[in-house]
Amino acid sequence: MKFIFLTLICITLTGRAHSEGLNLSVADIEYGKYLSGECVTCHHTKALNTEIPSISGLEPNIFVSLMLAYKSKEIEHPIMQMIAERLSEDQIISLAVYFSKLNR
Ligand code: HEC
Repeated sequence: MKFIFLTLICITLTGRAHSEGLNLSVADIEYGKYLSGECVTCHHTKALNTEIPSISGLEPNIFVSLMLAYKSKEIEHPIMQMIAERLSEDQIISLAVYFSKLNR
């Protein structure tokens, strides 16, 4: 898990995610807020426990990389895989930009 996460950060930092067409300008923050209702039942908007990581204030590229990794089942986690599977890339980007604006 740690290794995959570091790999994702490297991919993000080297700009591969960007050159593959990650376009944050499609983000609709209000829509992201609407979609986030489901997420915050587990993640809350502030970190409350150690079981579930806080996703507030995450860098959008990292957020999207993580969600796409769950969607493609690169990261093992049945719940997050099921959640990511149902979301389109545009929805994930809207969520990413919305959550990145929240304070941890
Ligand atoms: C039923 C509880 C639950 C719900 C609902 C849920 N998540 Fe998660 N999420 C988790 C857990 C548990 C993890 C940690 C999984 C792991 O260790 O890989 C996680 C991990 C994540 C991560 C990776 C965080 C990191 O730092 O590694 C992101 C991003 C994320 N969730 C986004 C979302 C979004 C966006 C939604 C709503 C569309 C959502 N989650 C809904 C439980 C949930």
